[in-house]
Amino acid sequence: MKPKVYVTYKIPDKPLELLKERCDVTVNEMDRLLTYEELRENLKGMDGAICMYSDRIDKDLIDYIEGIKVIANYAVGFNNVDFEYAASKGIKVTNTPGVLTDATAEHAFGLMLAAARRIAESDRYTRAGKFKNWTTSLYVGQEVTGKTVGIIGGGKIGASFAKKAKGFDMKILYTDMIQNKALEEEFGAVFTDMDTLLKESDFITVHVPLTESTRHLIGIEQFKKMKKTAVFVNTSRGPVVDEKALAQALREGYIWSAGIDVYENEPQVEPDLLKLENVVLTPHIGSATVDTRERMGMVAVKNVLAALNGEIPPNCINFK
Ligand code: DGY
Repeated sequence: MKPKVYVTYKIPDKPLELLKERCDVTVNEMDRLLTYEELRENLKGMDGAICMYSDRIDKDLIDYIEGIKVIANYAVGFNNVDFEYAASKGIKVTNTPGVLTDATAEHAFGLMLAAARRIAESDRYTRAGKFKNWTTSLYVGQEVTGKTVGIIGGGKIGASFAKKAKGFDMKILYTDMIQNKALEEEFGAVFTDMDTLLKESDFITVHVPLTESTRHLIGIEQFKKMKKTAVFVNTSRGPVVDEKALAQALREGYIWSAGIDVYENEPQVEPDLLKLENVVLTPHIGSATVDTRERMGMVAVKNVLAALNGEIPPNCINFK
């Protein structure tokens, strides 16, 4: 008998076909996420699952689905899964690192350009039929080329951002708990402390995971240290930034603009941000490209198959 695997939301065909060759697969075909209750009931009795970042896999749920062998998170971030508790129950938890690095860095770069050059704001103006004349004051933005970018988090996504910034002749500062020599050697990035980065950067982009030490890493004190012309970008995790403080910083002119893809209480967006023109808001689509979605699926499926084969999957986060 084939092992039973549940997929909590549609994934691309290629990985799904691979999974179906070896497993008895059920996919949530509804055009919406499962509720917590539905998740519990559908995962009960399964040997494995591919879960979405938006699925909350907590202690209670893990107790309820005990017997499942693997939970493959279709995301690089895994703060939605109580992976330590899962380990105590012998359940392997995996993620999808590496394959969404460039897509996420691209999106961060796009948000930086959009927020600096007021692209979304001026698009709304044009669509509203307000473009009557070219004037010298029409949607004047911040030039990006040759400026200083501060990268908070010098891991893979931060490094991919640095590579793109190099093409714009940007000076690159970065901060992290660990120094990344390759980032320095390849892109001339300068390792610095947080305060220096906040004060000296024209653009600031966040690429850290959400942990207890990064929760509200950026709050009002940090925004006050930034340049008044600074553009702030977050494509990491919402709770890394105090969203109310961000809205205040944008409203009161502590910073110039922002590009935001992730939110503290997704899918809710801080209402004060929605009222502001100087922020570009996207719905957590950093990794949303056709290529990356397929690659994420292949990684998740390979993790499931390895675990069901009794191996430690390639991207296991809670077993060595
Ligand atoms: C990730 O993979 O962590 C992306 O943010 C999607 O959740």
